[in-house]
Amino acid sequence: MGVAVVTGASTGIGEAAAIRLAREPGTELVLVARRGELLRELAGSLPCRATCVAVDLTEAEAPRRIREHLEAEHGGELDLLVNNAGAAWRASFEEGGHDNVRRHMELNFDAVVRLTEALLPLLRAGAPSAIVNVASTAGRVARARTGAYSASKFALIGWTDSLYAEEKPHGVHVGMVLPGFVRTEGFPATELREKALTRWIVSKPEKVAEAIFEAGPGGKAERYVPRPYALAAIFRILAPSLVRRVLGGGAASSLTTSTGGE
Ligand SMILES: NC(=O)c1ccc[n+]([C@@H]2O[C@H](COP(=O)([O-])OP(=O)(O)OC[C@H]3O[C@@H](n4cnc5c(N)ncnc54)[C@H](OP(=O)(O)O)[C@@H]3O)[C@@H](O)[C@H]2O)c1
Repeated sequence: MGVAVVTGASTGIGEAAAIRLAREPGTELVLVARRGELLRELAGSLPCRATCVAVDLTEAEAPRRIREHLEAEHGGELDLLVNNAGAAWRASFEEGGHDNVRRHMELNFDAVVRLTEALLPLLRAGAPSAIVNVASTAGRVARARTGAYSASKFALIGWTDSLYAEEKPHGVHVGMVLPGFVRTEGFPATELREKALTRWIVSKPEKVAEAIFEAGPGGKAERYVPRPYALAAIFRILAPSLVRRVLGGGAASSLTTSTGGE
């Protein structure tokens, strides 16, 4: 497959994506996150060559460091960029204010845009190549106490759609993955998993990893995980009042109070 950068590879969906991509013949991985120890542990367990960049993606120097690492360690080649690192800090607007919105935008949107800007010349040079942006179904429908997170993912989706059209003529495919509730370190979905009524809606990082492969080398434009979550996006457009009632009312109380899953 060639050289792939995976951000947020120390845990959860990014780790699963690295493991999935490592199975493809000819893959070289660049694992990115803040916790270098976890990255090195993962790199050592993979069946392909994998190097690590331990960096905070919100820092100004991060994109340049990753590009320099690619040039020094992988001959400046790049075939796939998986923009997966992200986080959610739950708070109402009254509690979190603009500070919480800024914090989400810095990691879930600005950092993705800045890294893509730094690596796009390498991706174009290596075309056909691909970018996969890990958004969220929360980038299609918003719930109480996740407004800042949703804003960052709505922004990411809009920008991704535009980049898809712009980079197509250059041979850089831009795919997007929209996970629903997936059990990970940052999104434990504890309350949902505790109840039989809601347990079934919590998915696994491995499923998202497969979707990342399909939306990258597989050439798909977008993938919901699990697939039926696409209905939320469809109903949001066709029946907005109904969706507001469901997400704002009793049926969704376990979703809005759950500590995990975005
Ligand atoms: N799980 C879900 O329910 C769900 C649903 C929809 C969308 N998503 C999206 O999926 C992506 C991955 O999330 P996940 O569920 O796998 O959560 P996770 O297990 O918490 O993983 C987040 C990853 O991002 C990295 N990261 C966080 N802040 C960073 C920073 N400032 N600089 C560099 N790396 C940073 C973390 O590594 P370090 O802490 O080592 O830096 C970690 O590897 C996110 O974009 C999230 O919004 C998740």
